[in-house]
Amino acid sequence: MSEIVRRTESVWNPVLAAAESQALAAELESGKVLFFPSLPFELEHDERRFLDARWSDGQAKNISYTPATRGLKGAAGSADELAALAAMIARYHAQALQLVQALLPGYARALRIAPTSFRPFPVEGRVSSWRKDDSRLHVDAFPSRPNHGERILRVFTNVNPDGIDRVWRVGEPFTALAARYLPSLPKPLPGSAALLRGLRITKSRRTAYDHYMLQLHDRMKADAAYQQDAPQERMPFPPGATWICFSDQTSHAAMSGQFLFEQTLHLPVAALYDPERAPLRVLERLAGRALI
Ligand code: SIN
Ligand code: FE
Repeated sequence: MSEIVRRTESVWNPVLAAAESQALAAELESGKVLFFPSLPFELEHDERRFLDARWSDGQAKNISYTPATRGLKGAAGSADELAALAAMIARYHAQALQLVQALLPGYARALRIAPTSFRPFPVEGRVSSWRKDDSRLHVDAFPSRPNHGERILRVFTNVNPDGIDRVWRVGEPFTALAARYLPSLPKPLPGSAALLRGLRITKSRRTAYDHYMLQLHDRMKADAAYQQDAPQERMPFPPGATWICFSDQTSHAAMSGQFLFEQTLHLPVAALYDPERAPLRVLERLAGRALI
């Protein structure tokens, strides 16, 4: 069975009946990728110049925009150029947010807006370590940013101007993944959360949930046999396509492609249509105890 759910919406503000939103939420919250093959982000004529890796500052992997402050990071250019780049990314932010609110109105009030990113580099050939290698199947978990179970919802749009797909691999459902690995993951060391916080390695306390999510992320990426043999499907996202998934739940790997927009949104577990499907709840059921 495929983990990809193909949708026909081709506008950023679709109108859905309540029952349809419920059904969509059930797919998304079980870890499926919602795929909109023809939902393009339209660049204005003079924004096409931004489809070039030269706008990167050469330090950061992505150009990132913070909607709340309108701050732009990771880009280099004149003040006018940077303002135009920020305006383009801000427009993507607005459309991605509008899409999620239209599809899943139950989330609207609880969404916490995170940065928007524009990824001008090719996926291929940028690997610095296995842990950072996103061409290996993984679920998103970040060492310095414990999230205490809060969800990571991401909207992606391929804007490649040369017909080049963004190719992902999408792996097995989280329930299967967690059951496979959790029994063999090391338990958090007593006192380690306070130590990491004290040393400012983490920005807030690393809960047992955060510990297991990071372990899962690392173990998947380090397991060459799993990478090769795990249930998975290759998924090419063509230019003009948009897709949405909970990237803390959906096992994914980015294999190739260039020029992508991405909007991250956070959502508390309690705001899900069905909180029991959240990675936090799945792991807690398997562990037989509370993890936050
Ligand atoms: C990732 O989230 O692992 C990478 C997604 C992408 O850049 O296509
Ligand atoms: Fe990822």
